[in-house]
Amino acid sequence: MLTACVSTRLTQRMRRGSILSLVGLGIVAGGIATAVALLVTWLPPVASKERARIDGVFWFTVIICIAIFALVAAVLLYSVFKFRAAPDDDSDGPPIHGNTTLEIVWTLIPTLLVTAIGIYSAVVLSENDKLGKNVFRVNVTAQQFAWSFSYPEAHNLTTGILRLPVNRSVQLELKSLDVIHSFWVPEFGQKEDTVPGLKTTLHITPDKVGSYDIICTELCGLGHATMRSQVIVMPDAAFDKWLKSQTKATTSPSTSVSGAAVFKNQPCGSCHTLTAAGTTGKVGPDLDKLQQYATQAKQPLESFIRTSITDPNAYTQPGYPKNVMPPFASLPKDQLDALVQYLVQSSKKG
Ligand code: CUA
Repeated sequence: MLTACVSTRLTQRMRRGSILSLVGLGIVAGGIATAVALLVTWLPPVASKERARIDGVFWFTVIICIAIFALVAAVLLYSVFKFRAAPDDDSDGPPIHGNTTLEIVWTLIPTLLVTAIGIYSAVVLSENDKLGKNVFRVNVTAQQFAWSFSYPEAHNLTTGILRLPVNRSVQLELKSLDVIHSFWVPEFGQKEDTVPGLKTTLHITPDKVGSYDIICTELCGLGHATMRSQVIVMPDAAFDKWLKSQTKATTSPSTSVSGAAVFKNQPCGSCHTLTAAGTTGKVGPDLDKLQQYATQAKQPLESFIRTSITDPNAYTQPGYPKNVMPPFASLPKDQLDALVQYLVQSSKKG
């Protein structure tokens, strides 16, 4: 009777000790994982309403992962120390025939967690697809290896840099002229493929003024890594002013189009150096040396520049990659003329 009583009390004390050790190990492991999650800046800044919702799902999942990690790490570490075999112990472990309760528990808990993540994700996806009032539409065209953006609200004004008003529901309609590309602005949090023959859409509500990188995130050929542009999110009034000034410039024939503005609006500067425009791109030929290149190609300067823009693969300057520059054949004639004159002038100065 007495021995039985003492042994029960002993087992209880041992059990309490094990649980305390397990909880302690769990807190240490969970604390380390939480510190790694919070102290390292893993994600880019948030610049859209959709991204904020996506981050909600992300952190919800991270919290679940940290809790499970802490539990598994605690049991693992406890077992490693508590049940370590003696160095000379070569015997087999005890045969175990399974534990139904345990198996039900470790199936049920993950099922509930994954279902919860699934439901939360579905709610966020449907919220993110909901267009707001007064939608601003932009047509996005992808081609090897450049982006162009046209604005139906502004007589299809076309630019190489995307400009958007802040806090307005934006619907991008994406298409590709050649292969599959993918539109991605990390700060906006979503990716959308452009597929030849299909029109795809992406809904974004930018909520922070600033300038962010647009990245092609689908391997699309030799120049994939250079297929980048920029999105500039502007305050409402500044955006309206910009849109109006651009609309005036493209619709009124009396206003002469400025070649410098075309150069700036198109993505030229991200690949080419041109001192006059203050750009320092190194992917394509140095535009300060156009006169020298034209002489090498045995062509008159002006027609050399024009062909190099509309049919860039007709002649490739030695030392630079072939078939990387997209043809800018769809540039309206007045803009093309202005751009050619601008480059001719800057070559003569240099
Ligand atoms: Cu387009 Cu990668």
